[in-house]
Amino acid sequence: MSSLKIDVRTAPQGTPDLITFFVKGSALPAGVPPEEFDGAPGSTLLLRDKTHRTLLIGLGAKEKIEADTLRRAAGTAIKHLLKLGGKDAALDLVPFPDYVGPAVEGAILASYKFDGFGKDPAKNSRGTLRDLQVLVSEHEVTNASVQARDAQTVATVTNLVRDIGNLPGNMLTPAILAEKAQELGKERELTVKIWTERHLARDGFGGILAVGKGSANPPRLIVLEYHGGAKKTPPIALVGKAVTFDTGGISIKPGAQMDEMKWDKMGGMAVLGILLAAADLKLPVNLIGLIPSAENMPGPDAYRPGDIITTLDGKTIEVLNTDAEGRIILADAIAHARLTYKPSAIVEYSTLTGAVVMALGYRRAGLFTTSEKLRDAFIAAGKITGELVWPMPIDEEYREAIASDVATVKNIGGREGSACASASFVKLWAEEIPFVHLDIAGTAWTTKPPAHVEGGASGFGVRLTLQALRAGLP
Ligand code: BES
Ligand code: ZN
Ligand code: ZN
Repeated sequence: MSSLKIDVRTAPQGTPDLITFFVKGSALPAGVPPEEFDGAPGSTLLLRDKTHRTLLIGLGAKEKIEADTLRRAAGTAIKHLLKLGGKDAALDLVPFPDYVGPAVEGAILASYKFDGFGKDPAKNSRGTLRDLQVLVSEHEVTNASVQARDAQTVATVTNLVRDIGNLPGNMLTPAILAEKAQELGKERELTVKIWTERHLARDGFGGILAVGKGSANPPRLIVLEYHGGAKKTPPIALVGKAVTFDTGGISIKPGAQMDEMKWDKMGGMAVLGILLAAADLKLPVNLIGLIPSAENMPGPDAYRPGDIITTLDGKTIEVLNTDAEGRIILADAIAHARLTYKPSAIVEYSTLTGAVVMALGYRRAGLFTTSEKLRDAFIAAGKITGELVWPMPIDEEYREAIASDVATVKNIGGREGSACASASFVKLWAEEIPFVHLDIAGTAWTTKPPAHVEGGASGFGVRLTLQALRAGLP
């Protein structure tokens, strides 16, 4: 990843590619026949003269324009220009001074692509964005500069965790992830604590240990602390599933698309990104990020169906399917959050179930929460950042499905309503603390990328949560 230079100015400097946002129905530049460009959202038209290129990007009808319209349009335009070999671009935001932040965010998110490890990196990756100019009127320069700076911070951190997220299982083990978190935390005002296998055993993290046992790459618990708020204000705990690879374990998965399970760590990546960005932005909040990390493998010492596991707070789990592993490592981490930090709320992110993808598809994450206020806060934040969430039930009814004869609970119920039963499973360890579970299985990565962003890890949850925190989480 390269570092991008952003300038807020009143006129372009040099000869960047100019990006013009076009409202449907406004006058086309002279010489453009109307049938060539209608200004629909995402439509583009490239104009060239001797010295530079201008890319028109459609926003659709004026009444429907919102933050995400500009974010997507800027992303689509940048992706388009990068494919043409462009390196320097100018966003003409004179008509949209209030959407400088979203447009810059969209541009930076679109400029990220996982480089990979091919022999010829130049062939492997398209051009990277070097210089981004933001054009606004004189009296908007200060306002636009603040927006651009914050957007750059948030989008750069999002791309950073996408880049870690895109590493395959052999290159990103739990131990390597822990090292990376420690390094990144050191560069900022973050305290990072790591539990190795030995420490996990000493302290009774039976869930993380059980899931990690089948792998030669031992598990870790990563805890990041950020204190930006008043000393006495209880923190908000953010918990993220980071299974660096999920084979399913002894209840092994079918082979098709199993490679995608390298992205089973994206809940943890969301938490890492939120903590890093909160520190960079110096948000006035107290946050604890907890990232339980394990590789779910069917090695000789693997946990098995039928096993009964004792988690950190003494609750027990009857394992009926070793592929429902995320909830087991989350149980320990959520219990640790509750017992050690007494947080005002626990928000948990996980690629937990295939069932949520069946229910909601790829555009919306499942939002399961015990608090109406938290529900409203996340829905509102999602509308602004474009990371949509949809409320799903988590009430006691779903507990019946996971009742066990030999343990506190069993780790799978039936197929019916299983995204909800899974949510009610993880909720158990939060006890009375207001709890949010975001099932991001459908939104954490994409293999069919839309026009405004590349495929692979999306970083879903990072911008969503930062927006919710800035708006003031209840
Ligand atoms: N990581 C998977 C969930 C998943 C599946 C995410 C597909 C994204 C795409 C999780 O650990 C899992 O395997 N869940 C099982 C649970 C089942 C065994 C009850 C599932 O959803 O099939
Ligand atoms: Zn699994
Ligand atoms: Zn999993």
